[in-house]
Amino acid sequence: MVRMGKVTKLKSLYDYRKQILGLVNDKNHEKKQNTVLAKYGIEKLPIVKPSDFFSKYPRTKGDDSITITSDFSYGISPENDYYFLCRIAKAINTKRYFEIGTWLGLSARNISDNLGDDAEVFSLDIPFDHPEMAVFGIPEHIFGYYAKEKKNVTFLKSDSKLFNHVEYNKSIDLVFIDGNHSQEYVENDTRIGLELMKNNSSIIAWHDYVILGETNKNVLCGILNSVPTEMHKHIIHLQQSNMALYSPSFDFTPIKDKRWDIPESTFTVEMKLKI
Ligand SMILES: C[S@@+](CC[C@H](N)C(=O)[O-])C[C@H]1O[C@@H](n2cnc3c(N)ncnc32)[C@H](O)[C@@H]1O
Repeated sequence: MVRMGKVTKLKSLYDYRKQILGLVNDKNHEKKQNTVLAKYGIEKLPIVKPSDFFSKYPRTKGDDSITITSDFSYGISPENDYYFLCRIAKAINTKRYFEIGTWLGLSARNISDNLGDDAEVFSLDIPFDHPEMAVFGIPEHIFGYYAKEKKNVTFLKSDSKLFNHVEYNKSIDLVFIDGNHSQEYVENDTRIGLELMKNNSSIIAWHDYVILGETNKNVLCGILNSVPTEMHKHIIHLQQSNMALYSPSFDFTPIKDKRWDIPESTFTVEMKLKI
């Protein structure tokens, strides 16, 4: 067995993060992205305030009380995104959730914790020993670690490009796309997501539409190239999240996009360290 040094390990993890977040672009790629955005006349998605978004969904008592587990480690989603994902899942009364991109299993775990045992949670990730993954030397047990005790979470193992999703078609309330963030894969994964949607109230959420405060063009172009053009008006950016959301049922009035502004809401976070 070849042993990796600490520095090599850190570098490969750094490269891996860049790769999974789709930040490995070249100038040519950027030019192509700008052509795609010009074709659709979209530079950014319309921004919808959380209060406007959630006013669409009738509230039941305790709807906005969400508990999130996180270890704040590398490659996971920020807590505001877990919060919104879970709150949306509850708002639309999700019975079947499907995500592409398991990693440590935290999005699956949080969805499972907040929806309860009735809901079915499917989490797809590329096999750890797939040639594209094996180079990073990530141990198998890392994948899905935080959800492995959850009985309603089913782990699926395949490169999303090769995944046969037919048995899940037209059955999913909420799809979370958070796998390989290159434009090519976002297109592939979005096409799958569109087929998975149960009905017009189903929602697709894409993670890392915003990354470090900037629009992630890989994700935006991937979305626009795969969602039918006449449906683009139903794709939004949920303010104070890093997610783009789509549902044929969306019909929101977006806010004016001001770069420097104080958002309308704050989060109350009660933290407990479980040792
Ligand atoms: C950002 S992480 C997912 C984080 C997780 N959704 C969360 O929020 O806790 C991205 C995951 O996508 C997986 N992935 C990368 N390429 C993939 C592919 N082609 N098919 C399926 N999964 C892939 C990676 O192995 C990684 O586990």
